[in-house]
Amino acid sequence: MASEKLLKALNDQMNFEYESANYYLAMAAYVADEDFDGIENFFMVQAEEERFHATKFYNYIKDIDGRATIQAMEEPKNEFTSIKDAFETALAHEKIVTSRINDLMKLAHEEGDYATISFLNWFVDEQVEEEASMKAIISKLEKIDGNTQGLFMLDSELAARTFTVPTEE
Ligand code: FEO
Repeated sequence: MASEKLLKALNDQMNFEYESANYYLAMAAYVADEDFDGIENFFMVQAEEERFHATKFYNYIKDIDGRATIQAMEEPKNEFTSIKDAFETALAHEKIVTSRINDLMKLAHEEGDYATISFLNWFVDEQVEEEASMKAIISKLEKIDGNTQGLFMLDSELAARTFTVPTEE
């Protein structure tokens, strides 16, 4: 059983992950309105990933005899100036998630909570991938530089993304 302080921090992160799903749903809705169905698919899959992350926290809290409590969510940003703006917002959001996971890890270390350190290791690795995937798409968008054909090629590429349950290492 984790300390009350660590349990609260884990519960807050579970809620933040659920909230993250809504952030990506808002981005999906924005790009769908611009008729980029493949990019919409990318953000919908990202929202599913966030719910998966949240559920991992939910299950871990349960496993250590805590009780998850569901909190009110902030309204996500719904308006973007461009597709690139949506991805830059996504990257900025992932950087916040990374910082929060690092803070959680620091607390788990301070408390010598080895089970929670082991649980959080998966998220440390996952955040490297989360940031890298957003950076890669922003880099492509910079090269495309608003070219319509390039945008539709990226749209086709991102249409192929599917949600697969990440492997547990
Ligand atoms: Fe759950 Fe995208 O971090």
